[in-house]
Amino acid sequence: MKTDPVCGMKVDENRTRQKSMFRGMNYYFCSAHCKESFERDPLLYIKEEEESLPERKVIVVGTGAVGTTYAYALMRTGLATSIALVGRNPDKVRAQVMDLNHGLMFVPPVHIFEGTYEDCKGADLVAVTAGVAQKPGETRIELARRNAEIFREMIPLIARHEPKSILVVTNPVDVLTYAAIKISGMPMNRIIGSGTVLDTARFRYLLSRHCGVDSRNVHGYILGEHGDSEVPIWSKVDIGGVSLAKYCPSCGRQCPEEEMESIFNQVKNAAYQIIQGKGATNFAIGLAMVRVTEAIMRNENSIMTVSTLVDDLYDIRDVCLSIPTVLNRNGVSKQMYLELDSDEEQKLHASADLLKKTIRDIGL
Ligand SMILES: NC(=O)c1ccc[n+]([C@@H]2O[C@H](COP(=O)([O-])OP(=O)(O)OC[C@H]3O[C@@H](n4cnc5c(N)ncnc54)[C@H](O)[C@@H]3O)[C@@H](O)[C@H]2O)c1
Repeated sequence: MKTDPVCGMKVDENRTRQKSMFRGMNYYFCSAHCKESFERDPLLYIKEEEESLPERKVIVVGTGAVGTTYAYALMRTGLATSIALVGRNPDKVRAQVMDLNHGLMFVPPVHIFEGTYEDCKGADLVAVTAGVAQKPGETRIELARRNAEIFREMIPLIARHEPKSILVVTNPVDVLTYAAIKISGMPMNRIIGSGTVLDTARFRYLLSRHCGVDSRNVHGYILGEHGDSEVPIWSKVDIGGVSLAKYCPSCGRQCPEEEMESIFNQVKNAAYQIIQGKGATNFAIGLAMVRVTEAIMRNENSIMTVSTLVDDLYDIRDVCLSIPTVLNRNGVSKQMYLELDSDEEQKLHASADLLKKTIRDIGL
């Protein structure tokens, strides 16, 4: 039995001929009168029903290349019921919101609007992409210091509204994920940096091209810093379950070691190359952010190389960096201990030390 949305009477949907469809849903009525009233203004009668659907809200802070590409990729998924853009320049934010809204006819329903930090209340996820870019000649530490200053102002404005999770993307992402945890006072499992999710995707893409296999069948990780000290975990690369050591002889190509090195260098230097060509990297990071958002909001328990606070794993303490991490609706559910060979473990330590030094140098 269904309920007539106009008068509230119970209606047997198999017997009544009074039926109407709105936004892909069937509604049943006790009389032609109720049906006509409904069809004049359906929203008058189903508003309550719609409002009772659980809201899935995502806030995007920073409306530059990365923030808006993420919003665009996210609106196509149907994952969020509302997306708010929060930025410093009201005219630009309004224009971005208008442009995105004009595409609503082509995607699942979603409410996209100009937001404020207050909209972080009840948000499932706040993606932080706001920050300044590296100036010519500026060191990474100087950039870290300037963006940490922005975080000191911005993170309390977000955290006071207690969103369920925060995804930090602004660079240097590991240092700023650490900053967000310290500044917000929120539980560490709720604050996640995009880390080496993008680098890992680049690694798998390049390996897949090299080996002639779909990148979804190539497994491997880039761990550590999202940056120059990141570490390729060659010992754990596998192609469809076959370790690289066994796959290579079966492939027949005789790849010299330099080819492997060249693949990793392309991963490490990809951002520099793209920024030189078009000024920003935005498409792949936007998609990577959507994957992290899905893993959290769909409670997937997916393993991703996000940057999280590592305390006592591989003898590394009190620093944020990327290791394989299980993500679900609680944010971080578990950090995985992946057995590394001694050279990889040494490099991971070096990466952690470098990040800790930056954290100390900027006084976090
Ligand atoms: N982690 C990753 O894998 C990854 C990948 C790509 C880019 N990024 C980083 O993402 C960030 C954004 O990149 P982008 O290309 O979109 O840069 P962008 O310059 O296009 O956008 C940055 C935005 O932040 C805004 N902003 C600056 N200070 C602000 C503040 N105090 N409050 C609110 N907004 C503020 C600016 O107005 C601008 O709209 C950069 O730090 C970049 O390095 C990270």
